[in-house]
Amino acid sequence: MRTIKEIQYMVSEEIRKESENIFNTEPLNLYRPISYTLNMGGKRLRPLLVLLAYHLFNDDVEKAYPAALAIEIFHNFTLLHDDIMDRAEVRRGQPAVHKKFGENAAILSGDAMSILAYQYILKTEIPDVRPLTQLFSQTAIEICEGQQYDMDFENRLDVTIVEYMKMIRLKTAVLLACSLKAGAMVAEADKQLADMLYEAGINLGLAFQLQDDLFDVFADEKKFGKPIGGDIVENKKTFLLLKALELAKGETKKQLLGWVTGSGFDASEKIEAVRNIYSGLNIPQITQDKIEDCYTAAINMLDKLPVAQDKKAQLITLSEMIMKRDH
Ligand code: IPE
Ligand code: IPE
Ligand code: MG
Ligand code: MG
Ligand code: MG
Repeated sequence: MRTIKEIQYMVSEEIRKESENIFNTEPLNLYRPISYTLNMGGKRLRPLLVLLAYHLFNDDVEKAYPAALAIEIFHNFTLLHDDIMDRAEVRRGQPAVHKKFGENAAILSGDAMSILAYQYILKTEIPDVRPLTQLFSQTAIEICEGQQYDMDFENRLDVTIVEYMKMIRLKTAVLLACSLKAGAMVAEADKQLADMLYEAGINLGLAFQLQDDLFDVFADEKKFGKPIGGDIVENKKTFLLLKALELAKGETKKQLLGWVTGSGFDASEKIEAVRNIYSGLNIPQITQDKIEDCYTAAINMLDKLPVAQDKKAQLITLSEMIMKRDH
């Protein structure tokens, strides 16, 4: 049995090697942004989920490298395009790809990454790679759907919490779920087990995105690696904003609506004002409670897995690590 640390190290080495291989590939203007992205850090959460899920069944985690790499490369591709769409200029404490290399580079290098991801999926050595490819492409299209809802919601004021939960399930949770299920599929585990892992991944992913929304307002910018308040500036319909719109009354409600519907504001003034409204309405605690609900659902599902206790404990520990993160 391997330790989480060991597996974490193996994952990051694989990605580092991939980034090095790509560094000198021509045309440089296509591949350098990919190398830059893969080399700029990141928590490597999803490939770790792939390997730990595989590790529930077998110790030779190397067999799951191609699927793990595919998912991390795909995730990084989504970030390239997401930062253009969200007008976000900093990622992982460094200039976003579209700022450093230009928008065209971020678009095309992103496209190439999504294709590279499929090439990795196809490198997986299992008797039939089709179900894995099917899961991956279903996940990829759902992420696009989630991203579209995210953009559509910017221009709406009547988004419900139910709609929000559907949107984050699509844009974020399905990829964590896919990571866990892919690990089980590479291990050729029972379908029922793979599906249980998928459901646990959905709940973990919901908790993860809720936490990302909370961090976007209240985290320490240095640790978070992304500028604080981006979601407020872009009028993102986050759980925080939807709850605040639901709970605010009178003058506070009027002010909040003013910030969300008006334009031409100084960004830091708007961020400060909306953050104060959130704090006054106890939004951080309410969000934290919602995160706990999703997280507990994930842990309960993981706990039910009929696999070796010590290996299951590793997945639960990783989930705890994700929830205790500060970025
Ligand atoms: C960022 O994901 C996008 C979201 C789904 C919130 P991560 O927070 O996993 O990003 P990195 O890879 O660690 O930078
Ligand atoms: C993440 O949403 C979803 C995807 C990248 C698909 P966010 O827009 O909240 O992610 P960050 O905060 O920019 O990392
Ligand atoms: Mg986004
Ligand atoms: Mg974003
Ligand atoms: Mg975010």
